[in-house]
Amino acid sequence: MDDRFFVHREEYPITAGDFSAAGDASARIKYVLRKLGIDSALVRRAAIAAYESEINMVIHSAGGTLTLTVDRDTIRLLARDRGPGIPDIDLAMQEGYSTATEAIRELGFGAGMGLPNMRRCSDRFTIRSSPGGTVIDMEFTIGKESG
Ligand SMILES: Nc1ncnc2c1ncn2[C@@H]1O[C@H](COP(=O)(O)OP(=O)(O)OP(=O)(O)O)[C@@H](O)[C@H]1O
Ligand SMILES: [Mg+2]
Repeated sequence: MDDRFFVHREEYPITAGDFSAAGDASARIKYVLRKLGIDSALVRRAAIAAYESEINMVIHSAGGTLTLTVDRDTIRLLARDRGPGIPDIDLAMQEGYSTATEAIRELGFGAGMGLPNMRRCSDRFTIRSSPGGTVIDMEFTIGKESG
């Protein structure tokens, strides 16, 4: 597909606490990547990372945006939110660490696996956070899966 030789960019607003819309942005990202002809294993990795970051913004932040940029070589997902931020990133990155409430756990979230999954799924992962919010920058290299 020649489509992806053009830079493709979309930004999705994420609303805090809106569980009815949670997952819409990552579903759209998955659709766009498929349409651009990206390898399905790579689409799956990027979609998982997008979903985890989207859900984290819904649950843990005051809202933000998820931006998808695709160029010839790279998929980039940039998650930016306003909110309390993450006081101890090393701790938050550990598998099983979660501050999710009982009510959130009853919805099926709060296993403490979202951030570790984002790091595992992406080829480059950076996170920075302050009391004003969190920024997660993830990149995925196009073309290494199927050659
Ligand atoms: N965008 C964010 N803003 C503020 N805190 C966050 C954000 N993302 C993650 N955190 C904090 O980091 C912890 C770990 O996040 P992670 O996604 O790994 O697990 P979880 O969201 O609690 O559970 P799971 O993702 O498995 O449903 C969260 O419980 C929360 O305390
Ligand atoms: Mg999470």
